[in-house]
Amino acid sequence: MSFELSSEQEMIRLMAHDFARNELETYAHKWEQDENIPREVIKKMGELGLFGMMIPPEYDGAGAGAVSYSLALQEIAYSCASTAVTMSVTNLSCEPVLKFGDDEQKEKYLRPLAGGGLLGAFAITEADAGSDPGGMTSRAEEAGDCYVVNGSKSFITNGDWADVIILIVRTGQDKTNRGLSGFILEKGTPGFTIGRKEDKMGLRASNTVELLFEDCRIPKKNLLGKEGIGFKIAMVALDSGRIGIASQSVGIARACLDEAIQYAKNRRQFGRSIDSFQAIQWMIADSATEIEAAHGLAIKAASLKDKGLPFTKEASMAKLFASEMANRVAYRALQIHGGYGYMKEYKIERLYRDVRVTAIYEGTSEVQRIVIARQTM
Ligand code: CAA
Repeated sequence: MSFELSSEQEMIRLMAHDFARNELETYAHKWEQDENIPREVIKKMGELGLFGMMIPPEYDGAGAGAVSYSLALQEIAYSCASTAVTMSVTNLSCEPVLKFGDDEQKEKYLRPLAGGGLLGAFAITEADAGSDPGGMTSRAEEAGDCYVVNGSKSFITNGDWADVIILIVRTGQDKTNRGLSGFILEKGTPGFTIGRKEDKMGLRASNTVELLFEDCRIPKKNLLGKEGIGFKIAMVALDSGRIGIASQSVGIARACLDEAIQYAKNRRQFGRSIDSFQAIQWMIADSATEIEAAHGLAIKAASLKDKGLPFTKEASMAKLFASEMANRVAYRALQIHGGYGYMKEYKIERLYRDVRVTAIYEGTSEVQRIVIARQTM
């Protein structure tokens, strides 16, 4: 595997770097307080091609591939982790339409999603079905030219902002994973409302809500593929999604490390700056090394995807290692800040909260270990 970036990949990384440092970083703290990312910012990201990065140009995507996607997401996450999850979930929601959608669905939904005109979300999780989506109870019943959906979805990123939601619910009588189906749900569909907005520990600028369905009529033509493949649709989308969360983790970890270094250089104790102490240097060295290892895993999974090779195991490895690594790096960075790190005026306090969920969403660390063990054994 080559670690050298092509000129196109480097150009995309630089574009995301400049956008993130100029248009996200200064505002990330305010957006966390506002619990909102301005729509103009999201629109601009769409115009820059950041929402359909792995979608071919024939469907208005950037066609940049998974490696470029990982690099761009790392840069966005460095400056604003909330914006990074908004971006990763929109990219995630393109994938099922590309892989399982028909021509009409691609024309109507994929093109504007990938082109940045629409924002996407992905709804699988329920109150009692998190790690085990096969246990979901929300149902769609066939009725004429529609499916009628009843139930609810929990913790849905972009849920209240999205124009289009990939919705996985139960159909038919099969009570196993094979009884799930995927639908494309449009915002404003009668019977679909937004429920509780979650009061989260971190990523507070990103939108996380409950979705409620009461006799919600989704046209039959919005079924993705055929009935019974909803679980597969979710797993295929999550394979790519996990490269995204690994990349987000690397970006947040880099921000933590830079904060720690800057603080250590300026903070003086015992008559010298604390970066001269070996205890601090070892924390910096371990963090820098682990970040590079996680970056390598993310790029390896992304390269396999770009080559059209299987990457389920590698995406889970990258997600597992990068998210746990980023939590360790954030812990050390806050430790280096001492008491100041515990105060809200220091950026590390937000990063420490933002990073926690990377080891939980899009499959907990425990779920990643199941995937890796099954694939390895
Ligand atoms: N690609 C294609 N097919 C796959 C697949 C993959 N990666 N993984 C599994 N499948 C197929 C299997 O081949 C199997 O097919 P058959 O029925 O034809 O044999 C079927 O799916 C069932 O597979 P398993 O037996 O492995 O399923 P399981 O019930 O044991 O579950 C699991 C496995 C890995 C634990 C899975 O349930 C899982 O990933 N859980 C976590 C869910 C998750 O990540 N949720 C996150 C929510 S989204 C989110 O967080 C987004 C956000 O807002 C940020």
